[in-house]
This record gives sequence, C-alpha cells and structure tokens, in this order.
Amino acid sequence: MSTHVLIFPLPMQGPVNCVLKLAELLCISGISVTVLNTDHIQRNLLRHTNVLSRFSRYPNFHFQTISDGLPDDHPRSTARYNEVFEGMKTVTEPAFRDMMVSGCFSCKSDSPVTVVIPDGLFSFALDVAEEIQIPLIYFETVSPCALWTYLCLPKLIGAGEVPFNGIDLDVLIKNVPGTEAFLRRRDLPGFYRYDNLTNPVMQIIMNEARQVPRAHGVILNTFEALDASILDQIRSLCPNIYCIGPLHTLLKSRLPKSTQHNVSNSLWTENRDCLSWLDTQLPKSVVYVSIGSMATMTVDQFVEIWHGLVNSGYPFLFVKRPGSVTGDYDESKVPGNLVGETNRRGFITTWVPQEEVLAHSAIGGFLTHSGWNSTVESMVEGVPMICWPLKVDQNVNSRFVSEVWKIGIDIKDTCDRFVVEKAVKDVLDVRRSEFFRSTKVVAEAGAKSVSENGSSWMDLNRLVEDLKSNDF
Ligand code: UDX
Repeated sequence: MSTHVLIFPLPMQGPVNCVLKLAELLCISGISVTVLNTDHIQRNLLRHTNVLSRFSRYPNFHFQTISDGLPDDHPRSTARYNEVFEGMKTVTEPAFRDMMVSGCFSCKSDSPVTVVIPDGLFSFALDVAEEIQIPLIYFETVSPCALWTYLCLPKLIGAGEVPFNGIDLDVLIKNVPGTEAFLRRRDLPGFYRYDNLTNPVMQIIMNEARQVPRAHGVILNTFEALDASILDQIRSLCPNIYCIGPLHTLLKSRLPKSTQHNVSNSLWTENRDCLSWLDTQLPKSVVYVSIGSMATMTVDQFVEIWHGLVNSGYPFLFVKRPGSVTGDYDESKVPGNLVGETNRRGFITTWVPQEEVLAHSAIGGFLTHSGWNSTVESMVEGVPMICWPLKVDQNVNSRFVSEVWKIGIDIKDTCDRFVVEKAVKDVLDVRRSEFFRSTKVVAEAGAKSVSENGSSWMDLNRLVEDLKSNDF
C-alpha cells in the first residue's frame, strides 16, 4: 500500500507555517500528503500566498478543509481562543472522526490514509486513529521545553505546585525535572498561572499529557544540540521522537536554489517595502518588533514599547498586525515628538516576510513575544532577542532564551518604557559582543544539524523511512 500521510495543524499561523514545511519535505521524499486546514485558515492562506501554485509541482499533495465551528467574522485571537477550542470540540472533532472513518481523504489522492500527523493539542485524534487502526505521530509545534512542562502537568498538580493563583511568582518549580535550578512559577505556561483545573485549556493540556506518550512518535521543530537535556527528559515518556528543526532551513537545504525564496505561508499580506527600508540602515542597527499572529497588547503597552524604542535611539521595524493592539487606539493622542521620531527612525507595518527580515544584515535585535517559530527563526539568523512573552509556551521559551541558551534578555511581566529602552541598548550595544558570541554558537549548531548527515537531516530520513515502511 502506498504511503499517504494526513497532517492536521492547529489553526494558527505558527503551526500552519510549520506543517506546510513538513508537508513539502515529505512530498519531496515521494510520500503522498493531505493537509487538513480549517476553512478559515485555508481562505486566508489562499488570499495571501501563492501556496497553490507552489504546491502544484507536487502531484502527491492535496489540501482538504474542515469547519472550526465559528462564524466567518470571529476574530480567533488569543483572547478568545477558548471559543476556538469550543468550536473544535463540538464541530471539528466529530467531523474529523466521520471523515477518517468514511475514508473521505482517499478520494483526492487515490490511496487511503496510512498515518495521521495531528497537532499535539488534538488528543481526540489518537482515539480516532486507534479506532480505524492506523498509526499516529504527534507534531508538537511548541518548543520541547514547553512540551516538557505540559507532560509534567499531572505531576505538578499532584505535588500541589499548580495552580498557584498568580502569587509568589519567583518561587522555583520542583516538578519539571531538569529545570529545577532556574524555572520559576512565572516561567510556566501562561495558563498555569491563574486557571483552575476545570478550565477547558487546562483540560486540553491534561489530555495532551495523557495522549502524547501513547502515540507512535512525536515530531519536534528543534535540533539535538540545542535541546539535548530536555529531549532526554521527553524520551523518558515518549521514546520515539524525531527532531527535524530548524524546519524552515531543513526545507531550504532540500529545495533547488531557484525555489528556495518564495516559500511564504502567511495569512496576511506581506509588506516587502520594509526590506528596501532595511537596505538603507546600518548593519545590526535595527530592532525588529513583532508579537506573532495571535497575541494582543493594550494601547498602554503599545505606547510604552514605542516610547522605549524611540528613547533607545535605534531604528526599529514594528509589526502592528490588524487587531493586535486592543482598546481605544488614537494615533492623534500619541505625543507628537514620538510620531516625528517614528517617521525618521521607525517603520510600522501590518505584516512582513519575517524570515527574510531576520536574515537581513541591518537587524541587530528582535523584540519578540517568544512564539516558538519566531524564536527558532531568530536563532537561525543569530539575532539576539528581547523576550516579552504573553501566552501559552512563550513564558517557558523566554526563560530558556535568557538562562539556558543565553541568547537574549527576558523582560516578562514588565512593560515599561525604561525597561524596553535599557534592553534595546543592552542587546545592540552594551552586551553586543557577549550576545554575538552566544547567538553565533547556536546559529552554527542549527546550520550543522540540517546539513548532510546532521542530526535533523538524519532524523528526517528516519521519519520518511518509518512512514514508508509503516513500521514504528
Ligand atoms: C502560536 C503561539 O502563539 C506560539 O506561542 C507557539 O509557540 C506557536 O503557535 P504565533 O503566535 O503565531 O504561534 O507565533 P510564532 O510561533 O512565533 O509564529 C509566528 C509565525 O508568523 C512565524 O513563522 C513568523 O515568521 C510569521 N510572521 C510573523 C510573519 O511571517 N510575518 C510577521 O509579520 C510576523
């Protein structure tokens, strides 16, 4: 029977981006792939990218769609992500089961699905795969360090360390093995902080912790040299893991030079003029600012960050995604000198080709929400980070950036113009040589892992062989 993989991403920019890269790598290896997107994601993807023409060179690739149960005009922002999970539970889960049981995915590709690769949060998918007796591999698009805190959740609850109602945030955590020396309450995933145990998101993570170790394997967007000790911990529960990151550079290494550019999976239109603006700036002088595809900040936070950037004296490229600043934002109320300075030294836009921006020689630092994709993309380019994490895995990632990999500064839980100004000056000037050395080590290790016979290169080969032989 020919191999046909069904990949089912979480409907968010970061995971969709990753999944399409994995899909392309598998197609190149001769495997048939169907990517199952929600209607909402698929609409945005088709509106803003050339994804259809890009994938048309793979006759073994197909898209299929499924409803997320929400009306078209729902914002699907982090603040209302509970509603996304609700919609998925009531509409997507049963529809997914029906599609799998009826064999509907075979119609386009002429072969039945032989392996399912859903996002790690989709614990329901394992029950369906078991029902129809096909193997399942989870694709964890969050970081390994965050995944480890998810897998430890039952232990954290059992020991009474979670939940802790947002108090004494500097207390060290004892029940995430391997991180006892540096992981504090404030560094745990955002929802561990306040949510009680009956909160739907906590339930989802509890299910994930239960189901992921039962899967045939787990795919991670990381490389051995970066995460060796955490990967050993994860292997104690999930022995079969495939580390195939940095995924975007692994894909580039397997594409012909002529098609390496132009791999955008953006859900918004990219402003490419920012690249010409960057061309006019001095090397390593610009701060790039983005909080990813879902997170939001208040007007007050926006203005604090803006002040901090302007006061630092460095030029900045600021992504202000539609809907990312909440509250009554009125540009005319922003102090005139700030706007004047911004015109001279800032470039504000709604969405950029981030991988290309981070690769630009003018970028000297990245003020980021510490989403895992942004973190990996920054590592690859050797760009030091100022981490201002907001939700989900971001709190864990930013702690690892500052304490484990030492490639940036973690300013979590503060949003103050003086803190931002100091962090920018530290990264671009005061601690520049220190970060230059540490980011170079990480970037070189990442490049080695995707080169021929590197660890991620080899793990991708192993994944492809396992998928083809259907032997796990
Ligand atoms: C979500 C969660 O928020 C994050 O914590 C988790 O690790 C993955 O899922 P998201 O918020 O979208 O992801 O952040 P991130 O993982 O950083 O992904 C954002 C993606 O959007 C990146 O691949 C980045 O290159 C892309 N991007 C961002 C652009 O292409 N242009 C932009 O202007 C901003």
